[in-house]
Amino acid sequence: DTTLRDAADAADFRLGAAVAADPLRTDAGYWTSLRRGFNTVTAENAMKMGPMRPEPGVYDFTDADAVANFAEAHDMALRGHTLVWHNQLPDWFQEWDYTDDQLAAFLRDHVHTVAGRYRGTVEAWDVVNEAVADDGTMRDSVWYDALGERYLDDAFRWANDVAPDADLFYNDYGADAVNEKSDAIYELLEGMLDRGVPVDGVGLQMHALDGVPDPESVAENVRRFSDLGLDVHVTEMDVAYPEADAPENHRERQAEDYRDVLDVCLAEGVDTLVVWGVRDSDSWIPEWFPHVTEDPLLFDASNDPKPAYHALKERLEDT
Ligand code: G3I
Repeated sequence: DTTLRDAADAADFRLGAAVAADPLRTDAGYWTSLRRGFNTVTAENAMKMGPMRPEPGVYDFTDADAVANFAEAHDMALRGHTLVWHNQLPDWFQEWDYTDDQLAAFLRDHVHTVAGRYRGTVEAWDVVNEAVADDGTMRDSVWYDALGERYLDDAFRWANDVAPDADLFYNDYGADAVNEKSDAIYELLEGMLDRGVPVDGVGLQMHALDGVPDPESVAENVRRFSDLGLDVHVTEMDVAYPEADAPENHRERQAEDYRDVLDVCLAEGVDTLVVWGVRDSDSWIPEWFPHVTEDPLLFDASNDPKPAYHALKERLEDT
């Protein structure tokens, strides 16, 4: 019996899932589904700054290594997520009275240490995550407040110092189609490229809470970033619908939505699509968005593959 992973391998396509370290260690159903569906993994939380930096000056790589080791053992590619983000910062940050220079030195050490540790293992890093606000202005954050826009340039340069072979991505949500936010990200990345900053790609997260955006507009968006010379990955896909007017048989509709995005990827040269979790029961969506359908992923809670799994498999077998 061929699996979705087999189909992705045969199509030379990177189909990934976000994974958590705990169920990897303890839940055979979890890792069986993971191996059945995917040839790529992203750590859902384990490579973020908060989880990795329990105390000042201390790095804890336990969970991140567990994810990296699983990927290696099962011949899966690894997407690194994420070196610089405004969210999931260490708790102790709140009591740290830093100067701007100290913060910059801290960030440089973090990027050098983490990207350096996974050099040769992480194929693509989300170097900076979600630096742009929904209205297209720069997002207020610890980094932006202290360092200004240059923190992005610095972060990509520092990552490139220690992981020159990794593809270095800017990653964001709500910028999947052509819109105000993706316009702003386009200008941001164009400026960085003009300044010679080593940015290689843009990640479109594709958290779809009301079905996926218009595929034509997603394709147009992908094309303009490609024309800048950037790779595009779909990095965190899930598909839900508002409970109040969810389509009937929404799992069939969901399968079409997943297939539509894969179609855009295959047509526009996007070679990586990562889904944000393995089973519906692992998804972040029900906790954060209680008013949408609670089954956004490819496997159900019993580890049975859903229509979306089969739709992606058929489409990949068709390449
Ligand atoms: O494991 C900890 C535990 O030690 C802690 O004491 C407890 C109390 O907070 O919670 C547990 O941490 C939670 C963590 O997930 C692991 O389950 C955090 O509270 C919770 O906030 C965290 O949520 C994650 C979220 O990012 C944080 O913003 C989600 O799992 C993760 O799916 C989500 O992922 C983000 C991407 O990184 C960036 N794009 C958006 C995406 C969805 O929000």
